[in-house]
Amino acid sequence: MKDPYRQWLRPLIFNRFKLDPERLHRQVIGPLAWLGQPGATQQLAQAWAQQQFCLADQRLVQSCWGLTFSNPMGLAAGFDKDGEAALAWSWLGFGFAELGTVTRWAQPGNPPPRLFRLVEDEAVLNRMGFNNQGSAALADRLAQIWAVQRPPIPIGINLGKSKATELAAAAEDYRASFQQLRPYGDYFVVNVSSPNTPGLRSLQAADHLDPILATLQAENHDQKPLLVKIAPDLSWAEIDAVIDLVTAHRLAGIIATNTTIAREGLKTRLLPSTGQPIEAEPGGISGAPLRQRSTQVIHHIYQRTQGHLPIIGVGGIFTATDAWEKITAGACLLQAYTGWIYEGPWMVKRLLQGLLTQLEQHQCHSITEAVGLATSLVHSRFWPWGGLPGSAPTVLWLAMSICSDSGLAARGLLAAKPGAEPVLLCPAILWFICPSCNG
Ligand SMILES: Cc1cc2nc3c(=O)[nH]c(=O)nc-3n(C[C@H](O)[C@H](O)[C@H](O)COP(=O)(O)O)c2cc1C
Repeated sequence: MKDPYRQWLRPLIFNRFKLDPERLHRQVIGPLAWLGQPGATQQLAQAWAQQQFCLADQRLVQSCWGLTFSNPMGLAAGFDKDGEAALAWSWLGFGFAELGTVTRWAQPGNPPPRLFRLVEDEAVLNRMGFNNQGSAALADRLAQIWAVQRPPIPIGINLGKSKATELAAAAEDYRASFQQLRPYGDYFVVNVSSPNTPGLRSLQAADHLDPILATLQAENHDQKPLLVKIAPDLSWAEIDAVIDLVTAHRLAGIIATNTTIAREGLKTRLLPSTGQPIEAEPGGISGAPLRQRSTQVIHHIYQRTQGHLPIIGVGGIFTATDAWEKITAGACLLQAYTGWIYEGPWMVKRLLQGLLTQLEQHQCHSITEAVGLATSLVHSRFWPWGGLPGSAPTVLWLAMSICSDSGLAARGLLAAKPGAEPVLLCPAILWFICPSCNG
């Protein structure tokens, strides 16, 4: 099928008229908000949109935290910060949508221009700075919408720290927003990874994040799934520290990742609208340049948690291939923002069709079966110490596994019974170091 967006509209918007991205964004949100309203015309438009943009297939259904997602592709945070189009996202084919980032206090965000397309790189640079109407306004809006109709897809709400709030008072700021919005979100996200609020990313450090998560979980009376969204620029050790906290506070999962502050590998040298070198422009990069790093982060979290922690994968998803890479790296759900801008409203349907083809090619019966396929938990059971391939126990384990039938038997046992490593380790060491044992 010819895609009118990619064929006609995108060249006009991006190249011919070079429409201002933020203005265009506002002009898109308006009709989408209208689409969700009750009324006969809206019903016709909804039916048309559903026929154009939606794809239903039992193999795409995902279950997580007791919620059912009709497909794994969600709208990433930042697009609908104030929940104006909360009802529309299901008509555009998304399996879920994340509203926000919302902060406790309304704030205007950074001065414009603050949103730029990097067309050569299939990327976006943004330094919006959490422009939003505040958590009380979002709660009021969602109360009004929910009174008429609850969205047919799960809705996440992404919480950020108000710029006016000191870093030391961050926990109370997040708590206040959470308390106001708790009835309206199916899951909640603690956003500590935006590069556009001064100091925010320092909240990812364990000593800052710990009290925020403790405060939110203490407020979480009805056990709503609570996730943390992390930056792609963290080191492996920093990611591991977040994972440890997430586990300690029994959080529901991690969203990987937010935009990157890295500028390596970009084709764009100067930002056309400011004339400044791209390195000199503050903000986060999203889209294609983020794709690989975000997948690596997903892979790392999946291995480190032995596949036990749900991961929402986001960063540079444009096609079914991109989505498949993230699912097989370990993401159980996905989100897109920049891909949807570049690929247009038919993107989700096209991507889901492609995912069904991937499932058939890999002889999987459902998305659930494909999660972590490329990371393979059998591998992490081969590396029972968490995947430091150079470490002494791993070398020992590998040597034993390759050299002997007992190694194969041990791997079989571990595949069937994860956690049996300590039981196997002692005889394995004896076997390896004692000549009389291994002949
Ligand atoms: C213009 C813009 C605004 C964004 N605003 C937010 C935000 O408010 N909160 C948030 O958690 N992420 C925000 N993001 C990050 C996205 O949710 C997503 O994590 C990131 O863009 C990577 O995905 P993508 O490559 O599909 O865009 C924003 C991204 C863009 C491009």
